[in-house]
Amino acid sequence: MSEHSEQPNRHGNEIRFPENFLWGTATAAYQIEGAARDDGRGPSIWDTFSRTPGKVYQGHTGDVACDHYHRYADDVALMAELGLRAYRFSVAWPRIQPDGTGPANPRGLDFYDRLTDTLLDRGIDPIVTLYHWDLPQALEDRGGWTNRDTAEHFATYATAVYARLGDRIDVWTTLNEPWCSAYLGYGNGVHAPGERNAAAAFTAVHHLLLGHGLAARALRAAGARSVGITVNPADVRPADPQSAADAAAVRLVDGLHNRIFLDPLLAGGYPDDVREHVARIVEPTFIRDGDEKLIAAPIDLLGINYYAPGYVAGRPDGAGNDAYPGTEGAVHFLPPAGPLTDMGWMIEPAGLTRLLERLAADYPGVPLLITENGAAFPDKPGTDSPDGPAQVIDADRIAYLDGHLRAAHEAISRGVDLRGYLVWSFLDNFEWAEGYRKRFGIVHVDYLTQRRTPKASARWYQEVISRNGL
Ligand code: FCB
Repeated sequence: MSEHSEQPNRHGNEIRFPENFLWGTATAAYQIEGAARDDGRGPSIWDTFSRTPGKVYQGHTGDVACDHYHRYADDVALMAELGLRAYRFSVAWPRIQPDGTGPANPRGLDFYDRLTDTLLDRGIDPIVTLYHWDLPQALEDRGGWTNRDTAEHFATYATAVYARLGDRIDVWTTLNEPWCSAYLGYGNGVHAPGERNAAAAFTAVHHLLLGHGLAARALRAAGARSVGITVNPADVRPADPQSAADAAAVRLVDGLHNRIFLDPLLAGGYPDDVREHVARIVEPTFIRDGDEKLIAAPIDLLGINYYAPGYVAGRPDGAGNDAYPGTEGAVHFLPPAGPLTDMGWMIEPAGLTRLLERLAADYPGVPLLITENGAAFPDKPGTDSPDGPAQVIDADRIAYLDGHLRAAHEAISRGVDLRGYLVWSFLDNFEWAEGYRKRFGIVHVDYLTQRRTPKASARWYQEVISRNGL
């Protein structure tokens, strides 16, 4: 991505983003593609998990999803109509290596080849995520991310994808939100593979980071120009800014959520306080000599997914949170308050400004890209019907996006090197454990007919992009 050639500016309520600011949307393979058995795709942990009773809302699966696998050309045409300049998608590992190892499946690669060419034909920059949670089930059967070999296999897979698409795609990101993969996948079991084991969660954290490091090294060796990773750093706030106990709770949760990933990636290794905390739960023998050096190899881009802040208090009777192993008896996580989205997440744009400024201060020198930001709202009227809705006036989503873009702009004007913004999501889609009941798209999807209807937010975003501002 190019350097800013102009500073952002502001006139009254109007704001302008830097020239070359990258505008786009994001999706992920399992959430939109469907075609779960086409062209040799193997099963992933999400196929298994979504079929496990009680794991996903009403037993929804990604079998059909938005049928994007077959409708990608029309979807890209709609992106072009909306003026999108960039599109972040993920590659499904089980399409490329149905059982996670072995030779690449050319028919799986063909799909991403067609998608890439279609995007480029329409002048849309593709941004690839190599892993957005759909681990081949065969690798999970051997321990998944708790097995060190998975990190090695990930690098082999990354190399195969690069070999096919590297001549046309500039921006390569390894993992999406390893926090979720590790803590929700192996810690509290809310996501696939559904394990509930704190030691497994910490083991997975390290192997995910190692997988990133190995894949990044392989991508660079193959010639990749821009290599990064997407994290979901939390803006962790104290319930009472004056309280020392609350400050200690912030420090603990920040360590488990943010510094456990960001310090190895960008500051040379795991922080001491986090190492000590982890060692109380599991002997970290999985961290071997040389791992941290590999993980800390410089990256060109840090992807940030931001949705909401979180508030914590330090309390000896705190229930903690099983997504943060070891916080029981120490931390009380405050229930979200104030205006909430349909996910029950707080709406606090200032959290994005704080987070971006904090990242720029603590981890200087790496350009940032907002790889996801957006909100689920019920979008009524807009329920599925044979014809789809005539229109969806999603004023609450527009307000959410407007607020967060202003917050991002504020960070830029305070000196943060933010290169672009990708809305989550282009389409309504399979929202993991919530199934299809939560709608994040700026384009409505009627799941009975697969009809796409741009919501008012899509038209609003089109205008934002064409003005390069608000
Ligand atoms: C993020 C995920 C993305 C989507 C949004 C709402 O954590 O990366 O796939 O589900 O949340």
